[in-house]
Formats: sequence, C-alpha cells, structure tokens
Amino acid sequence: MRLLVLNGPNLGRLGTREPAVYGRTTHADLVALCESTGRELGAEVEVRQTDHEGEMLGWLHEAADESWPVVLNPAAWTHYSVAVRDACAQLTAPLIEVHISNVHKREEFRSHSYISPVAEGVIAGLGVQGYALALRYLVDKATTSA
Ligand code: DQA
Repeated sequence: MRLLVLNGPNLGRLGTREPAVYGRTTHADLVALCESTGRELGAEVEVRQTDHEGEMLGWLHEAADESWPVVLNPAAWTHYSVAVRDACAQLTAPLIEVHISNVHKREEFRSHSYISPVAEGVIAGLGVQGYALALRYLVDKATTSA
C-alpha cells in the first residue's frame, strides 16, 4: 500500500527553525524516519513538503483521486485555511493530522484547527514520532479492514 506524508509551510526548515519548540530533527531526518517506518510496515511512504498552498491542494486532490491515506501536518494552515480543510474533506481514505508541538499548550490561536473536524485522528506534542505512530495506525487500519 501507498501512503502520503504531507508537510506544510516552514516545515522544510526543521532542525534550525525554533529548535526549542520543534527539536533538532531536520526535514531530511523526518523523511528518513517516515521511509524507514514504511519499510518496517511493508508500505510505500512518500514525504512531500511545500510552502505553497496551491501545491498542497493539488497533492490532496491527487490523494483523493488515488484513495491514498494521508498523514498531514498542515502547519500554520491548520489555524486559518478553509481551502486546505475543503481539500481534506474530499479524501477518500483516512487522514491523520499531526503536529510536532503540543499546539494546546502554546498560543491561544494554535488551539483551533480547521482540519481536525475532517480528520480521523490528531496527534500533537509527540515530536516527529507522531508521524511514525500515524503511519502505524494507517497501515494497521488498512490491513485489518482489507
Ligand atoms: C505545527 C504547529 C503549528 O501551530 C505551526 O504553525 C507549525 C507547526 C507543529 O507541527 O507543531 O508550523 O503544525
């Protein structure tokens, strides 16, 4: 099976971006973690990152058309993008929303997500391990319901 991991704006700067909040893991390290988790689970995992909303919408449309499960860190779009939410609502396989930081113990505006109501589940505050856990859940769900 094939799964997409999609990362939104500023996540390409992981490792140097606010390390006290997001840690020292780089985006390349995150890609390696997701790919090795996929290999362990016998699934094909592709990781993409963009700072451009239209590009993200196109990837979500592609996932909807292909029925691929998605792990999405919408980053700042979480808190204001109706367009990303509307694209997520079109997905035909499960969506897990992931945040590296615990958005609920930060600024008030980070507590609200436009994406959570259309996600199957949300993982926040477990660092980059949240991605691996989300992938495990999705593969487990697909194989037990197949
Ligand atoms: C984030 C949390 C968001 O509030 C923030 O805008 C991000 C990253 C996280 O992974 O903790 O860019 O989604």
